Amino acid sequence: MCLPTVFLNGHYMPLAEAHISPLDRGFIFGDGVYEVIPFYDGRALRLTEHLKRLQRSLDELEIANPYSIAQWETHIGGLVTHNNGGNIGVYIQVTRGVAKRDFPPPKGLTQTVFMMANPLATPKREVYEKGISCVSLDDNRWLRCHIKATALLGAVMLKHQSNQEGADEALLFRDGYLTESSASNIAAVKNGVILCPPLDNLILPGITYELMIELAQKAGMPLQIRRVSRREVNTADELWIMSSTKEVVPITTLDNKPVGHGEHSGKPGPVFTKMYALFQDYKRGLQPLAHH
Ligand SMILES: Cc1ncc(COP(=O)(O)O)c(C=O)c1O
Repeated sequence: MCLPTVFLNGHYMPLAEAHISPLDRGFIFGDGVYEVIPFYDGRALRLTEHLKRLQRSLDELEIANPYSIAQWETHIGGLVTHNNGGNIGVYIQVTRGVAKRDFPPPKGLTQTVFMMANPLATPKREVYEKGISCVSLDDNRWLRCHIKATALLGAVMLKHQSNQEGADEALLFRDGYLTESSASNIAAVKNGVILCPPLDNLILPGITYELMIELAQKAGMPLQIRRVSRREVNTADELWIMSSTKEVVPITTLDNKPVGHGEHSGKPGPVFTKMYALFQDYKRGLQPLAHH
């Protein structure tokens, strides 16, 4: 369950009092978008970038943004305060609103805005030390994965399949090239070079992905943004997942085989370890919300 106080259409309330019509197009069609924004000790990680991506997702669906950036900051700040700050993942969902069930999106609906605060479940130390396991699966989601849409059945089914096959996550490939995983972006490392799939309609432009690229470039770590083939993934020295809730986590097993070579085979690699440290440094420099 989420933390006690949620936000619905301009009001803070206990979760049990938050009611939404079953005719909400978010419920009927998955006609909505969402964001997850991490807060560390009440300090947001890349709030502006998350709100910009929310705007882009809304634009794609032609849903008007119900709030200005300043209003979002106020409402989000209020939610964090109501739930006593700390390490929180703020979940925001905006749907097109309530209407008679019909496919064409009607104009002029009042958007439904729901926000909740979840304890930020950053992986435990042992997960960073041991890494996670993945299976390779065909990316059979739709072709608009750049939109952070609430309709996530493709991702739900792939994640479920990976778990049924005994793995933590699914590593997804489309036409022989790496896309992402069900809920995070992926980077590979080969001969000391970080390889990141390019941003297109096949992957979500992750805020963590963009931050990692920025941190790597600032630190002078070799990095290429380009398509990564399945063969390159299978022979990679390192693989990581990146997301707002997971931060950066090494993948140490792929399709039941250890990732990497030599002393780092099946273990987190040196490039991951450096990236993880850069990310933790960046977190320590975050400013309180009022400074955004
Ligand atoms: C499909 C997918 N890719 C990537 C990400 C990572 O994005 P971010 O770093 O903005 O959390 C997510 C996060 O939920 C996701 O669902």
